Amino acid sequence: MSVRFSSAKSEYDLIREEWFERINQIAKTSVFVGGQAVNRFEKGYAAYIGTKHALGVGNGTDALFLTLKALGIGPEDEVIVPANTFIATVEAIHHTGARPVLVDCDPQSYLIDMDKMKQARTNKTKAVIPVHLYGQMVDIEAINEWADTFHIHVVEDSAQAAGAKMNQKRAGSLGTAGCFSFYPDKNLGAFGDGGGITTSRDELAEKILLLRNHGSKVRYSHELPGFNSRLDPIQAAALEIKLKYLDEWSAKRRECADLYESYLIGMDVMTPIHQNDESHVFHVYMIRVEEEIRDDVRKQLQKRGILSAVHYPTPIHLTPAFKELGYSKGDFIHSETYTKEAISLPMHNFLEEQDIQRVAHALSDALKSAVRV
Ligand SMILES: Cc1ncc(COP(=O)(O)O)c(C=O)c1O
Repeated sequence: MSVRFSSAKSEYDLIREEWFERINQIAKTSVFVGGQAVNRFEKGYAAYIGTKHALGVGNGTDALFLTLKALGIGPEDEVIVPANTFIATVEAIHHTGARPVLVDCDPQSYLIDMDKMKQARTNKTKAVIPVHLYGQMVDIEAINEWADTFHIHVVEDSAQAAGAKMNQKRAGSLGTAGCFSFYPDKNLGAFGDGGGITTSRDELAEKILLLRNHGSKVRYSHELPGFNSRLDPIQAAALEIKLKYLDEWSAKRRECADLYESYLIGMDVMTPIHQNDESHVFHVYMIRVEEEIRDDVRKQLQKRGILSAVHYPTPIHLTPAFKELGYSKGDFIHSETYTKEAISLPMHNFLEEQDIQRVAHALSDALKSAVRV
């Protein structure tokens, strides 16, 4: 018996009939791009997140890119971003022509180090992208206070934190805009690619509406050169159905994190440090082991049918893709250190206590017999 890493298949089984019905309705109207299905999800998602607008786009990377473009960010500008994020956050900045300015993370929460963020500001800084990494919210209200003083936009990368709440406000509702990925293994995932942008700013929403659809609101009338990045209605229908379950799923993930914590007590691993509230939705459950045994521990888990992952093996400044930024080894020491020790254990909406027990037993055995390199 293996322990699955993600629950996309179980989610499909749960909503299959309702989704097929919705696909049939879409097919009957033959509106295969945009239309009612997308409008309905957007309305529901804006209400859920607590913003005036939610705009569906092609994927989470486009959500970030289109938001930055709509904010007028481009060459000569700088955007501050953590060095320990998924590459998409930095790609989105790069493709606007702006310079990504990397900063290290806090060594305990793995979230952007606020002091380093402040130190990285120059008069070219136009935006900061705090990443709600692993599903844990950055304190956006604290960032807003600083950012407002310098007219810096706060673009929340909420790809991993759909449903997370801090002081009763959801990730994606606090900054200038929130950017979501609906990639299938996300906490709220479609059955294909998808993304969304949340904002309460009318002007920004208007601009994104144009940019996502060839600069046009009325067919063949193009107000500016845009892109083609739209949320597919078939995916929007799946997302609308799944949204009903999201709070229940987030609570389930938190319960699983608590169970992991209790089953891993006494083992030589570092478990996540977090607030015991709704500000963490555990997209990823990341533990740390000694660097010398990390890869062997993962191999042994895999032999016992337990898939794990590393989020992410290489910090941005050391990836070949961003060599030209000119950073070197040692520049972001916390990001460099923990990513060599990180193991993401199975965590998903359908994980059961017996799965966690199995992972814990296998991990305990692996830690005892792991080969050091
Ligand atoms: C933190 C973060 N930002 C952005 C993205 C990009 O989303 P997508 O894969 O939908 O383009 C992801 C997706 O994995 C992510 O984890």
